[in-house]
Amino acid sequence: MIPDAAELQRRARKLLPRNVYDYYAGGSGRERTLRANEKAWRDVWLAPRVLREVSAVDTATRLLGTEFATPLAVAPTGYQGMAHPDAELATAAGAARAGALFVLSTRSSRRIEEVAEVVAAAGGAWWFQVYMMRDRDLTAGLVRRAAAAGAAALVLTADTPVVGRKRRDSGEIAAGQEFLVNLGPLADMSAAAQAADVTFADIGWLSAAAGTRLPVVVKGVLRADDALACREHGAAGVIVSNHGGRQLDGAMPSAFALPGVAGGLRARGDGEVYADGGIRSGEDALTALALGARAVFLGRPALWALACGGADGVRSLLAGLTDDLAHAMALAGAATVAEAAGIAAAMPPWPARIAASGQN
Ligand SMILES: Cc1cc2nc3c(=O)[nH]c(=O)nc-3n(C[C@H](O)[C@H](O)[C@H](O)COP(=O)(O)O)c2cc1C
Repeated sequence: MIPDAAELQRRARKLLPRNVYDYYAGGSGRERTLRANEKAWRDVWLAPRVLREVSAVDTATRLLGTEFATPLAVAPTGYQGMAHPDAELATAAGAARAGALFVLSTRSSRRIEEVAEVVAAAGGAWWFQVYMMRDRDLTAGLVRRAAAAGAAALVLTADTPVVGRKRRDSGEIAAGQEFLVNLGPLADMSAAAQAADVTFADIGWLSAAAGTRLPVVVKGVLRADDALACREHGAAGVIVSNHGGRQLDGAMPSAFALPGVAGGLRARGDGEVYADGGIRSGEDALTALALGARAVFLGRPALWALACGGADGVRSLLAGLTDDLAHAMALAGAATVAEAAGIAAAMPPWPARIAASGQN
């Protein structure tokens, strides 16, 4: 059966309190970027190859040196305790059992060390996402703990100097301070607020703060020049992302940005490129791989799967979408993830369209 992310979302909507559902589902501003994200992958047409040997399609991929069974990964999302009592422990276990990478949010509702144990027990690997907080010592403390607990990389979220304003009108979420489980009580909550003065130099700061040589991936990059600057400042890779339409409303969909970022880095010959935002099917994932991503991250679909089925829900979502991806790869004549690169053929003339819309 083809996994249906929309059906999972419908079921989660019935299960979750309205304010929690709206917090997860919503985007910033008028939700223009949120709406465009899913559609943009479907505006890209693929040019499948024929007469290729695809009797054994292999979805395995290597991310920063670690082998995963699937290029589908779980994006960092905060406050998972509102979706399921097992929270990040369940999401992390489900991902590891599916052979997928899990990224733990700074705003995790569970302790970093507990999540690390669950992933290790299932033989998986995880990365730690970092929101640079105003109090750098607080940030450094979290990063050191993640490194000590076995995170394989750090993900610096770069698109959130301030938190996007979300307008769905359903009141405050109940668990806004759940993440304090990792910080302890704070005399001054502003210490944990987003730092608005983060620059490319902080890529090196973060790496040094970890106390070990952990690779840093920058998340939220939409421009080739920024991706190159990240590389020049020591980042191992970038995630092309607009934060699932939750930061700048009007920021371009990831599918628009990915070819430019991947092409820019390829021209320099290095750096890994990943993407997220609106990926809901195996075909969407194949499209992202075709446009140059090495892995794709799922945000909301993993939350819906967690809410509906805990660890097993997350595992079966990832396994189902991976199977769906393998099927699409066979149809596209790509036996490996590497062979999927470059099968995107026709894309709308986006720059022209953007220019034209400016004149209307
Ligand atoms: C409820 C929610 C919470 C999120 N929390 C974080 C976070 O703590 N850190 C982060 O870097 N990104 C966060 N994101 C963004 C995701 O990592 C990812 O970029 C986005 O969800 C991908 O889009 P998708 O939901 O359409 O798959 C969050 C997204 C959602 C929906």
